[in-house]
Amino acid sequence: PATQTPSPKRDKPTMPDAQTVTAVKHWNDRLFSFRVTRPASLRFRSGEFVMIGLPGDNGKPILRAYSIASPNWDDELEFYSIKVPDGPLTSKLQHIKEGDQIILRPKPVGTLVLDALLPGKRLWFLATGTGLAPFASLMRDPDSYERFEQVIMMHTCRTADELNYGRELVEKLREDPLLAEMYGEDFHERLLYYPTTTREDSPRMGRITDNLTSGKVFADLGLPKITAEDDRAMICGSLAFNVDVKAVLEGFGLREGANSEPKEFVVEKAFVGDGI
Ligand code: FAD
Ligand code: A2P
Repeated sequence: PATQTPSPKRDKPTMPDAQTVTAVKHWNDRLFSFRVTRPASLRFRSGEFVMIGLPGDNGKPILRAYSIASPNWDDELEFYSIKVPDGPLTSKLQHIKEGDQIILRPKPVGTLVLDALLPGKRLWFLATGTGLAPFASLMRDPDSYERFEQVIMMHTCRTADELNYGRELVEKLREDPLLAEMYGEDFHERLLYYPTTTREDSPRMGRITDNLTSGKVFADLGLPKITAEDDRAMICGSLAFNVDVKAVLEGFGLREGANSEPKEFVVEKAFVGDGI
């Protein structure tokens, strides 16, 4: 009846910084991606991360760092997430559905930005697991192709099904008619993809560190060996991965840069901890 007044108990509490989920896709029992509305005021540089989360049982939000996987021109925000079975956030976040709300603190930060690199010819994205997320943003940003002649995405996971989110994204981009219109029919040669597995047979195998030091990736893709003059790189994986790749790149003569001091490569952790 029209006279009924809303009961405060029945009203949903309004969360600060709430955004609405617009889509969810589960890639397997350990990985999912989702999209949410984008706050009108949110500006970010492709490759940056924000804090997102859900209200905790005690009303205090559980917030975690998440790379924005969508490019900065997109109307919505996309995220690519692990499901940690006992994880305070992802044990709940993995159950979100279209129409649900999440918390998003609109303060983007991060080191994996094009501005932190000196100009060069080729840009290497080196990722394991969900470390692909910032590159899902950067690969969809035309600025990457404005600044570099070629972008090479190396992504390594233990098993083949963990590569699917990245594979689908790269395959779509390489066939994108708009990108072909902007950058020519041979655009697919400007975005190269080198997915590998380490614990399951697949067409390409091996750790990123091994494929760089042995020269296998250069031979397979028909590219010259990485040099400080022509090549730039961004690294995103576990701490152990980041430390080892950094040493390989330094062996090629590249130096780590930052927003305030652009150089030849930048690094960011894909998560804190030892892995699962
Ligand atoms: P937590 O208590 O945070 O983690 C429990 C344990 O699970 C960790 O100790 C670690 O061993 C393992 N773990 C956590 N995250 C991952 C992961 N992504 N891959 C493998 N093992 C993991 N996570 C994403 O899924 N997508 C992202 O885009 C993303 N971006 C991040 C960016 C930054 C800068 C940082 C620091 C972390 C990022 N993370 C990302 C990790 C994220 O912040 C959370 O750790 C993750 O969502 C799990 O939260 P949780 O509360 O369920 O478990
Ligand atoms: P591997 O199977 O040989 O350990 P994790 O799930 O442990 O984070 O690993 C994700 C992927 O990254 C796996 O394919 C793993 O290979 C690889 N990896 C883990 N640590 C390193 C490292 N220090 N250097 C290179 N690759 C690594």
